[in-house]
Amino acid sequence: MTAWQKTDWRSKPRVQMPDYTDPDALHAVEAQLSKYPPLVFAGEARALKARLAEVVRGEAFLLQGGDCAESFSEFDADSLRDTFKVLLQMAVVLTFGAKLPVVKVGRMAGQFAKPRSAPTETVGGVELPSYRGDIVNGFEFTPEARTPDPGRMLRAYTQAAASLNLLRAFSTGGFADIHRVHSWTLGFAEGEKAERYRELSNRISDALDFMTAAGVSAQTHHEMETVDFYTSHEALLLEYEEALCRIDSTSGKPVAGSGHMIWIGDRTRQPDGAHVEFCRGVLNPLGLKCGPSMTPDELKRLIAILNPENEPGRLTLISRVGAGAVGEHLTGLIRAVREEGANVVWSCDPMHGNTIKSSSGFKTRPFDSVLREVREFFAIHKAEGTVPGGVHVEMTGKDVTECTGGVRAVSDEDLSSRYHTACDPRLNASQALELAFLVAEELSDRRQHMAARAS
Ligand code: PEP
Ligand code: CO
Repeated sequence: MTAWQKTDWRSKPRVQMPDYTDPDALHAVEAQLSKYPPLVFAGEARALKARLAEVVRGEAFLLQGGDCAESFSEFDADSLRDTFKVLLQMAVVLTFGAKLPVVKVGRMAGQFAKPRSAPTETVGGVELPSYRGDIVNGFEFTPEARTPDPGRMLRAYTQAAASLNLLRAFSTGGFADIHRVHSWTLGFAEGEKAERYRELSNRISDALDFMTAAGVSAQTHHEMETVDFYTSHEALLLEYEEALCRIDSTSGKPVAGSGHMIWIGDRTRQPDGAHVEFCRGVLNPLGLKCGPSMTPDELKRLIAILNPENEPGRLTLISRVGAGAVGEHLTGLIRAVREEGANVVWSCDPMHGNTIKSSSGFKTRPFDSVLREVREFFAIHKAEGTVPGGVHVEMTGKDVTECTGGVRAVSDEDLSSRYHTACDPRLNASQALELAFLVAEELSDRRQHMAARAS
């Protein structure tokens, strides 16, 4: 068998990718991107894989979150900071609940390309190509904006590089100090309807005060003010991924230089398709979305292709089947994984299976359905004796009104006030943190259950 080549995906059936009309323009962009430095270093991708191997063993928990689609127009330092800030707050709450380290992965610095349910969109009798994310075409409903433009890949690269630069600075420059992060959470828990979260929040305060009294401070323990933060996105636009693929000088293996972790979407996971072909060849940790149509046999086949050496941390299975359907779909998949003896991280995306049209006409997700799917995910893993390893959410640090419900209840009528997403509805800062508190409760129950079993 000949060795994998980064161009091999080109001979496989491809779906959800744009048809560029000007091949010369496309080639020029690909040539340019191929010369640019990679955004991440292979050693970091290997380090993330090692952290995810801890998740496989139940020794860490994965938190993955960020925008559905990053956009060029909403890009600024405040948005990045706010999303990063909420992810850190969630991580502190989860660390406390699980009593485990939390592996933090943003859907950030590269999450630009979107699969769509239909290739075209018709408005007032006019049919145009669907919007596929800012890396492909524009959101505006005009023929010019909707025509795929390869030049957008260069802009996406630049934005991803600038984002990653700031995220790295936030991670190590003092912003991530755990006392500071927790003080933001105290503000949330003091809210009128958040009394349910106050006790846990106060317990975290006590733990931090105790550590300070015992001499554990940012001055003596660098870990108190720095975090490891990783980036991820759906590897959908393969021309872009190929152009940023590099050889890791340490292992001699290809690595996707576009982000630390990449994932395969639920619409592009055909075992013989282009996306699986590309992803199987790079050494990065991979995510695989598992929607309701995934069968146990299909999953077995994909595991064999994507992780033939059964390396722990290589593959994260992200189930997204919808509240009420977890038992029906996930049990079979968990059993398939067990039959194969496959090492995987099981993560729960409670967003993509719970999208509905609200009475006011907006695409939304009821917060109760999101919570319900997470609870069902934990319950099934408890019943099967497997490790619920993480959560994967679409969220933003901004106070948007895109998902309904939560302690600062967003109603169907409220959706129109701050509905900013370029694609799917995201949890706002308050809803995201509330979700973290509820997951922390689940993790804490699980810990007590495991301890009782061990004694
Ligand atoms: C996404 O994560 O934004 C997405 C499109 O998910 P899925 O492939 O699971 O539908
Ligand atoms: Co989405």
